[in-house]
Amino acid sequence: MKKKLIIGNWKMYIERPDEARALALQLKKKARDSKKVDIGIAPPFVFVAELVRLLESSPIKVGAQALSPYGALPDAAPDKARTGDVSAEMLKRSGALFVIVGHSERRAVGDTKDAVHSELEQAARAGLMPVLCVGEREREHSGEHFEFVEEQLRSALKDIPKNLLKKLVVAYEPVWAIGKEGSSAIRPELLEEMIIFIRKVLAEVLDRQAALKVPVLYGGSVEPANARAFVDEGGASGLLVGRASANAEQFLEIIRASQN
Ligand code: PGA
Repeated sequence: MKKKLIIGNWKMYIERPDEARALALQLKKKARDSKKVDIGIAPPFVFVAELVRLLESSPIKVGAQALSPYGALPDAAPDKARTGDVSAEMLKRSGALFVIVGHSERRAVGDTKDAVHSELEQAARAGLMPVLCVGEREREHSGEHFEFVEEQLRSALKDIPKNLLKKLVVAYEPVWAIGKEGSSAIRPELLEEMIIFIRKVLAEVLDRQAALKVPVLYGGSVEPANARAFVDEGGASGLLVGRASANAEQFLEIIRASQN
């Protein structure tokens, strides 16, 4: 059975460098016992390089929460006059192994679907593992959320050469379930339905074999108490954890729960 992938998205929950170091070291110490899962953490940009060094000898992967849609693409001049932006190349050279792309909190502050597409392509070309987030804002009885997610997937992946997408990870994060109490998370049977749907769309965009290899994670109010149901009953290949990942005990419990 494939290892589950559990990624902690620290958002802005961890604000101080000493806090970031302490959390990373706690995870490093305990991660040795978690052989059945792959673990990733996505700290804010400013902590990435230091945590890469700190976790050098550990299996924990360090990544970033976002990246610039601008940078180098084939047949285009690099677009470097971008104050405040961080490119895929910079992340790669700083030791990041993955990057979250198209998180709903980035889309909400202006990342358009073209930007998300470009970010995904930049990340893939730089050799980073892109974790593409998709998810509807609300659920409709008419089932429009399926179309919404399909459009997010298709527009993000459009025309990106398949050989660049070998490391692709998709995270299904319904916006209505993010940042709430665990009881607001999705029900496992609804998650299972959406994961099957996502794989069907991926099979059309990539191909069946490639689609089966893409890990599809769940994110949205994951807590130690509900984590296991998403992977066991919901069929998720892993979890993208926000708030609970900023607490070592909770994140480690989620890791333990998902490997049993
Ligand atoms: P949450 O965030 O676990 O705090 O709901 C998940 C995410 O936004 O990635």
